[in-house]
Amino acid sequence: MDRKIRIGVFGAYRGMTMIQVLSRHPDAELVAICDKHKPLLDKCKLSLEEHGVNAALYEDFESFFAHDMDAVVLANYANEHAPFAIRLLDSGRHVCSEVLPVETLSQAVALVEAVERSGKVYAYAENYCYFAATQEMKRRYQAGDLGEFTHGEGEYVHDCEAIWGDITYGERDHWRNRLYSCYYCTHSLGPIVTITGTRPIRVVGFENPNVPNMWEKGYAGGASGMLVMQMSNGATVKSLNGYLKREPGSVWYSIYGQKGMMESDRWQQGVNRVHLFQEGNALTEQDIAYNPKPVVDTVLSRAIDTHGGGDFYTMHYFLEKILGRPAGSEAIDIYQALDMALPGLLGYQSILNGNKPFDVPDFRIPAEREPYRYNTACTNPEIAGDSLLPRCSFPTKEIPDSVYETVRQAWEAKQKL
Ligand SMILES: NC(=O)c1ccc[n+]([C@@H]2O[C@H](COP(=O)([O-])OP(=O)(O)OC[C@H]3O[C@@H](n4cnc5c(N)ncnc54)[C@H](O)[C@@H]3O)[C@@H](O)[C@H]2O)c1
Repeated sequence: MDRKIRIGVFGAYRGMTMIQVLSRHPDAELVAICDKHKPLLDKCKLSLEEHGVNAALYEDFESFFAHDMDAVVLANYANEHAPFAIRLLDSGRHVCSEVLPVETLSQAVALVEAVERSGKVYAYAENYCYFAATQEMKRRYQAGDLGEFTHGEGEYVHDCEAIWGDITYGERDHWRNRLYSCYYCTHSLGPIVTITGTRPIRVVGFENPNVPNMWEKGYAGGASGMLVMQMSNGATVKSLNGYLKREPGSVWYSIYGQKGMMESDRWQQGVNRVHLFQEGNALTEQDIAYNPKPVVDTVLSRAIDTHGGGDFYTMHYFLEKILGRPAGSEAIDIYQALDMALPGLLGYQSILNGNKPFDVPDFRIPAEREPYRYNTACTNPEIAGDSLLPRCSFPTKEIPDSVYETVRQAWEAKQKL
């Protein structure tokens, strides 16, 4: 197939980045955008005009859904991707989903089965797997330069206090306010999974208590969540995500193998730079460190610098996969997406059960899905039914409406500037 893929974007806040890529990508024809927040559609209109793109703008999902298109990028609320993905796959569209893929284990079963019955492409847009550092660590690991994987660590520490109002709008029920500590775990864990090709088989979760600065912004969950895992080859992994105090935030990965190790730079150049140790090299007093060359080097890939350039690759590999090209193998499929996300769901069960270990099922195997088919445990009262979980394992106070009102007023004042 060498025609352009007709593609739509659902959710235009984060989705604006995807719009920027797809407006200019040679394999894409951006045909439709949907967001219920009209000011965002007005922004989209300006961006489309700038790039000479003529896409339809919709405020409601049903009209967007009816638009003739081959593929959709989901950049709507992080906990609502699965139901939309399933509808779109069943209607014959390819789907690329922002993080996270699912809110419950029950949704994970339903989503895997929708992908399988549709035969369409499902790609998980975990952009942290496509930093210069994480792609280079994958290349070297897969080439055997480090030997068999023994231990890995990933961190996504991002103190969102200063921007919390901008990204939750003072809405009590915004998904970010309903988050629990280790749900958003694929930025920290995902790259370890793609670099090594292993999957977590057992997880233990830990969290720390809520902190006053986040409580005052409307978030009552634990400040950070830590997952400790055993991987399918016996390696151990630690994944840490949350709102700890540090600037700039920590986006950092480290991989140990039987012959050496690699890690991304922790402070100065972050995920643009790697450090390498290989056994057998003369004992190095100097650090072997370098900035890997970009995997794809085009005018567009160079122009997209958000999230260390990773935002280009999620869209690029999704299109390559739909077009049946070899580079499409770099897209993250539904099974690997769940390898990254289910430890967060099960890690929270571990936290709520005195840090008991939980096995992580492999949904490639149909029989492993059965115990989870009706598991709706989550912190969202709209879908949890009898399985509603608390937001935090530590005692936490109910946040009064006045907190959300204050955040909302500050957000509204900013919109008028
Ligand atoms: N990968 C990354 O680096 C990264 C960074 C930021 C956000 N995200 C992800 O992007 C997604 C969106 O987050 P966000 O930061 O844009 O904030 P958000 O979740 O508040 O924004 C979602 C947007 O979707 C729109 N929307 C949601 N449901 C809708 C519906 N039914 N009909 C019409 N419009 C609807 C909302 O109006 C809103 O503008 C989340 O999944 C988040 O995890 C990823």
